[in-house]
Amino acid sequence: MGLDIDLSVNIGGLKLKNPIMTASGCFSYGQEASEIFDLSLLGGVITKSLTYLPREGHPPPKVCETEAGMLNAIGLSNVGIVNFLAEKLPFLEKLDTACVVSIAGSTMDEYARLARKLAEHESVHALEVNISCPNVNEGGLEFGAEPGPAGKVIAAVKKEFPRTVIAKLSPNVTDIVEIAESVADSGADAVSLINTLVGTAIDINTRSFKISNVFGGLSGPAVRPVALAMVYKVVSNLDIPVIGIGGISTTSDALEFLLAGASAVQVGTACFIDPKAPLKIIDGLKKYMQNQKIYDINDIIGTVGNR
Ligand SMILES: Cc1cc2nc3c(=O)[nH]c(=O)nc-3n(C[C@H](O)[C@H](O)[C@H](O)COP(=O)(O)O)c2cc1C
Repeated sequence: MGLDIDLSVNIGGLKLKNPIMTASGCFSYGQEASEIFDLSLLGGVITKSLTYLPREGHPPPKVCETEAGMLNAIGLSNVGIVNFLAEKLPFLEKLDTACVVSIAGSTMDEYARLARKLAEHESVHALEVNISCPNVNEGGLEFGAEPGPAGKVIAAVKKEFPRTVIAKLSPNVTDIVEIAESVADSGADAVSLINTLVGTAIDINTRSFKISNVFGGLSGPAVRPVALAMVYKVVSNLDIPVIGIGGISTTSDALEFLLAGASAVQVGTACFIDPKAPLKIIDGLKKYMQNQKIYDINDIIGTVGNR
């Protein structure tokens, strides 16, 4: 029998039993996956980004495969805040895991109104503010691409929501550190990165774009080195907790981000291939720690290059 392994982390006031969460848009609102495994084993669940009103999203085709990942232009299709509160939150609040609601808006006021409504529900432990969706014409990246507007959205959300606010950053910017600094100065408790990288693909036989929106977001293993470099840059320049996202499918992928200084990670595209991927990563982390004789996950975080 080995010693007990402590996987718990604290991210800007948000307590997680382990550092593995599911990424927004890759786990819907949790119900489907709960038929496959017990979601309470996860560190946290992050919902699909919610807008105030429901959204249909883009017409199909919305996704296509690439050599090492996928392109998607879903167009933020979601049930809207009212349906979420009535139909999805009652399920999520029964789980013994952190419930993080992702929000997106086309105006500053929409973000603020979403935050105000969600603040009324103690079972919403944290908000992840999506200022980085590359696939919609209005909102999202419009706010996340410049430090000024990014900071203003976070300040507006912070004013309404008293618990942890995480700013989700885009890689489609010149200097991600500058954006991270702005949201940190505006009161973000943590940042998560990265959202998808803008890309496209063409079918040479039909001579048409493979996704209806032309531009989509690239995710999956192909983006991991880019994401890891960006996480390391932000960790090296700021004191704010960082959540790593991008192409994480295995325990060693997750460990790379933790070693680089991420306090937690999110698993996205890998959930479409294997919904149990996050669970396998949690088990793998325990085994790694036992082998390394490290019993507190916090003793791993940010230790790259320390030997
Ligand atoms: C189909 C799909 C839908 C997504 N929807 C959202 C979303 O609604 N909000 C958001 O912040 N990110 C969304 N993302 C981005 C992911 O949360 C994640 O940041 C990105 O895919 C990189 O991680 P991965 O390589 O592990 O998938 C979506 C990604 C995919 C593939």
